[in-house]
Amino acid sequence: MSDNAPDLDAAYGLKTPEDSKRLYAAWAKTYDADFAARMDYCLPERVVAAFVARGPSGPILDIGAGTGLVGAHLAALGLGPVDGVDISAEMLDVAEARGVYQRLFLGDMTARLDVANGAYGAVVSSGTFTTGHVGPEALDEVLRVAATGAQIAISVSEAHWQAAGFAATFDRLAGQIGDLELKRVRIYGEKAEGAHKDDAGFVALFVKG
Ligand SMILES: C[S@@+](CC[C@H](N)C(=O)[O-])C[C@H]1O[C@@H](n2cnc3c(N)ncnc32)[C@H](O)[C@@H]1O
Repeated sequence: MSDNAPDLDAAYGLKTPEDSKRLYAAWAKTYDADFAARMDYCLPERVVAAFVARGPSGPILDIGAGTGLVGAHLAALGLGPVDGVDISAEMLDVAEARGVYQRLFLGDMTARLDVANGAYGAVVSSGTFTTGHVGPEALDEVLRVAATGAQIAISVSEAHWQAAGFAATFDRLAGQIGDLELKRVRIYGEKAEGAHKDDAGFVALFVKG
């Protein structure tokens, strides 16, 4: 990792949406090479595989799209159209350059997105519901923008799942969702090194009822 580049510990130490904007503005240009490649970051591909197995149909919203790794995997499978939302303009600039998103727009998942109720036929998110980023309270907004019957796949890091009370939130939402399945996945691949190399998460797969 290059000198002064943001790292995982900095990312997990975030506390507010403003912290996220600052960190990801500094990280955007080196995220793919210094983080995703070097850590063998497999989560986007694993989330997309679990999502696709449920048979989603578009339009798809990628929440916390970042540099567009999820969009790239969806495009490789011929799925779309895909829109992406993120709090960081700099991350979205990198995603835009991939040319795989129909629309990219700024939005804060801890607030209300500029999206009509039920606009999306499917929703996916990788790496955004994690420590210091977005908590379970944002699931109400996920459900608002999803159409009835939409397939939804949201990754939640294991530590965040416990600490932020995702289980209780899914219990609260039980009447609004169906077919909930939790799939445990490792976030990094075999080439990862360092203290986080064995980190895992859940992909929560469910349907908006
Ligand atoms: C670890 S990155 C994951 C990016 C991409 N999905 C991936 O898997 O590579 C987390 C992303 O969440 C975004 N983010 C953080 N807080 C957010 C919020 N409140 N609303 C929307 N996006 C947010 C960050 O800007 C960043 O792009």
